Amino acid sequence: MDNVHPSMFSSYILTLFPQHMNPTLETIFHRRSIRKYADQLVEPEKLDLLLKAAMAAPSAMNCKPWEFVVITEPEKLAQFRKRLIFGNRNAPAAIVVCGNPSLSTNPAARLFWVQDCSLAGENILIAAEGLGLGTVWVGVHPVGEFVRVVREIAGLPKHITPLGLIYVGYPAEEKPARTQYDEKRVHWQKYEKRMR
Ligand SMILES: Cc1cc2nc3c(=O)[nH]c(=O)nc-3n(C[C@H](O)[C@H](O)[C@H](O)COP(=O)(O)O)c2cc1C
Repeated sequence: MDNVHPSMFSSYILTLFPQHMNPTLETIFHRRSIRKYADQLVEPEKLDLLLKAAMAAPSAMNCKPWEFVVITEPEKLAQFRKRLIFGNRNAPAAIVVCGNPSLSTNPAARLFWVQDCSLAGENILIAAEGLGLGTVWVGVHPVGEFVRVVREIAGLPKHITPLGLIYVGYPAEEKPARTQYDEKRVHWQKYEKRMR
């Protein structure tokens, strides 16, 4: 054991019991799509924290081509439920993650608005889990009809594209923590075609 550094041991333990070893990993593994919500409003301070988490995300050349529309009005939420076929969820709040490529001052960075906004969105999902909230991402862009519906309900101008809508609320269903780790999807050093 003399040549085993303690950090190697803790890394090994982490691979066996990742969710018990580290609060960040625990939060990541616990995040699941929540599709049933309690009849309880989300505190505005918590919604603010989610937006702060979103805007801590990395973006190409730090251009931050994102904007967010927070929706808590019951009539608007009812419209989303009715008009988005995969978005019929009873959450008391929704955050529309929007891309505004014109905020990217650099033409090369402008190409990356989807990645930039996706990373901001994932930060919201993880931060919500950490705050005891549930979320589900409802895909919008690039489906033309979904984009049209969300633009209309959220009052977005043409140059703003809704990438996705995140429902936020207190969960009324429980799901187990998990990773979906699959070693077949992992290649080290070079892509390897496998027979299995
Ligand atoms: C781009 C994207 C679009 C999605 N669209 C929907 C959707 O329209 N409705 C929905 O209920 N879930 C949607 N989801 C959630 C996925 O179904 C969910 O993440 C996946 O089944 C894995 O489950 P988990 O989130 O609990 O890990 C979407 C997720 C992503 C990343």
